[in-house]
Amino acid sequence: MEIFAIVGAGGFGREVMPVAKDMLTSTKHNASTFEILFVVEYGDTKPINGHRVITANEFLASKGEKYFNVAIADYKARERISKTFIESGALPFSIISRNSVCMSSNEIGEGSILCPFTTITSNVKIGKFFHANIYSYVAHDCKIGDYVTFGPNVHCNGRVIIEDYAYIGTGAIIKDGSDSKPIIIGKGAVVGMGAVVTKSVASFTTVVGNPALPNHL
Ligand SMILES: CC(C)(COP(=O)(O)OP(=O)(O)OC[C@H]1O[C@@H](n2cnc3c(N)ncnc32)[C@H](O)[C@@H]1OP(=O)(O)O)[C@@H](O)C(=O)NCCC(=O)NCCS
Repeated sequence: MEIFAIVGAGGFGREVMPVAKDMLTSTKHNASTFEILFVVEYGDTKPINGHRVITANEFLASKGEKYFNVAIADYKARERISKTFIESGALPFSIISRNSVCMSSNEIGEGSILCPFTTITSNVKIGKFFHANIYSYVAHDCKIGDYVTFGPNVHCNGRVIIEDYAYIGTGAIIKDGSDSKPIIIGKGAVVGMGAVVTKSVASFTTVVGNPALPNHL
């Protein structure tokens, strides 16, 4: 029996679960050969939305092939949990909604989540454990690092570089860059919901507004 774990049973985990279930049932013909469940680090293990909930220790101690994805927006938790689980022998799996669109010549790292109605166009490179929430897109020639998070409806236009751990809030729009001058969203930067990003953002800086600036906060 293969076990597929969604780590995190918060709002995002409960949104991602049906997407993962749909993806797995469409590719695996015998539903009795795998189980998809929630894994939590702490707290209640009552079933959620018809799925078993087990602790991280139970999951890591279980026999057989085990796969996981971390549906937690916080990049520090995502990195810590993914590293611990991989060291313990679990394998990351990506969750790609069947109605997301991935056009041509893209590289997408392990453990990613592409929610319903997301689009990755062409020649895009994305690192590991990326989250693209509903209706977000990444356009041509973008380079996205590891543990990057997009809220819903993020518009990331072409030739943008987004470094590791960056968080892009709901409805943000990032202007397209150029080969000689890409827009760079620095490591760990936060772009607030609704921001219109017209220039690069420094690492570990939060920007909001139109045009997006740190001093609007
Ligand atoms: C930018 C953000 C990270 C700031 O969070 P925060 O540090 O907790 O900020 P606060 O809520 O304390 O707000 C500080 C001030 O900034 C303003 N502000 C917050 N977010 C803003 C935004 N996106 N655009 C414009 N102003 C914003 C607040 O109104 C407040 O103004 P005030 O000081 O005049 O009252 C957060 O508001 C945000 O946009 N997060 C993304 C949310 C999201 O997309 N979630 C997706 C869930 S799936």
